[in-house]
Amino acid sequence: MEPFRIKAVEPIPFPTPDQRRTALANAGYNLFRVPARAITIDLLTDSGTNAMSAAQWSALLSGDESYAGATSFERFEAVVRHLTGYDEVIPVHQGRAAERILLGSLLRPGDISVSNTHFDTTRASVAATGATAIDLPVDTSTSTSFGGDIDLDALHALLDGQDGAHVRCVVLTVTNNAGGGQPVSMANVAGARALCNAFDVPLLLDASRFAENAYLITERDPDHAHYSPREVAHLTFSLADGCWASLKKDGVGNIGGMIALRDAELARRCRDQLIAVEGFPTYGGLAGRDLDALAQGLQEVTDPAYLRYRAQSTRWFGEQLLDAGLPVLLPTGCHAVYVDAAALLPHVPTHQLPATALANELYLAGAVRVSELGTLVFGRRDPGGGPDLPAPRELVRLALPRRVYTKSHLEYVVEVAAGVVAKAAEIPGYRIVEQADTLRHFSAVLAPALTPVA
Ligand code: F0G
Repeated sequence: MEPFRIKAVEPIPFPTPDQRRTALANAGYNLFRVPARAITIDLLTDSGTNAMSAAQWSALLSGDESYAGATSFERFEAVVRHLTGYDEVIPVHQGRAAERILLGSLLRPGDISVSNTHFDTTRASVAATGATAIDLPVDTSTSTSFGGDIDLDALHALLDGQDGAHVRCVVLTVTNNAGGGQPVSMANVAGARALCNAFDVPLLLDASRFAENAYLITERDPDHAHYSPREVAHLTFSLADGCWASLKKDGVGNIGGMIALRDAELARRCRDQLIAVEGFPTYGGLAGRDLDALAQGLQEVTDPAYLRYRAQSTRWFGEQLLDAGLPVLLPTGCHAVYVDAAALLPHVPTHQLPATALANELYLAGAVRVSELGTLVFGRRDPGGGPDLPAPRELVRLALPRRVYTKSHLEYVVEVAAGVVAKAAEIPGYRIVEQADTLRHFSAVLAPALTPVA
């Protein structure tokens, strides 16, 4: 059960079926464009949607809003140093600012960044520097416990091959959000460390979900079963040269991010950038009070009772959805349940966006908002004007905001999902009417594939 009780509540909306149809059509069939007042259960993301604790709310009041040298920064810096072991701590307003600044300070045109999987904003930041992002995820049909691992053989081959000299960083995204939210094992981090040593390349972590990764290691790796999640997190950070994180996830905040490094010279270059685009290095685009709430959140998030509840409730939710007939990816991680939309909707061809089709249907059926991680997000436009180059998988993600929804909220989602499964064969595909060049899923306008647009 939830290892907390509820002190503040907010009402949730219950739009009627008609209101849902209208809201989705007005939003160009893109759930990012649907207003939150038309959503009953919002599983779009676990990012910035966390419920803060009483201790975090009280920490807000000790926020020091001094422009330079605020004591809030000192508290934040001490917590991050203690957690990561990295001396150079740079706050930013969210994860993608960290990516833009750190990767922008590190990469040059022609360079390569290689990862288990770059998250979409990470990939966009790599591309903005003129460098290339290469993903080398492990084959998940052979590794079920640690499906977030990087393929070490492929990494070795890349570093040792003709492009090896261009590799400027190896990035492990923990947990691997774009790859089903699966954890990266300690052995994999150590293996990547050894290769980075051999080829003199820095190893960086996208540590946005470091606590969930650490907890899943204690659950799935008998060698680490007796460690606390915090100890496993320490070990993970100790093997890398630095990290960045969106603290809207395991910082249990509503906004925030950070860069933390060993390399003082790289940190200096990052701070130069930071001052130009985020703010002075002791606040980095955040209010002092945000830094205090995050410092508190970063300490709470490794509580074993919280992480056990987090992993167990997500597993329970995944099992219920599976029983309801959704093709759920197993094992579940912590922050979300992923569903294979292509398996549920074989009649919807990839270029008609099966993952979008399933996501939209969950909204129409019960005002449940989820996100698509399929061809709309990860597909590529064909430069020749043909159909999109498809994403590797057509996934739908039901992300779980931290400490926000109870079991009965999730039971409602399971009921809605069962209704969608019952009419799966009638669910239409979608086509893209308007799209941006990068990160198109946030703003694209769509239409049902079989209905001509007026
Ligand atoms: N890295 C990972 C692994 C992420 O999941 C995200 C964001 C970011 C970086 C970017 O951080 O949003 O603070 O700028 N993921 C959110 C999600 C958006 O829904 O998964 P940000």
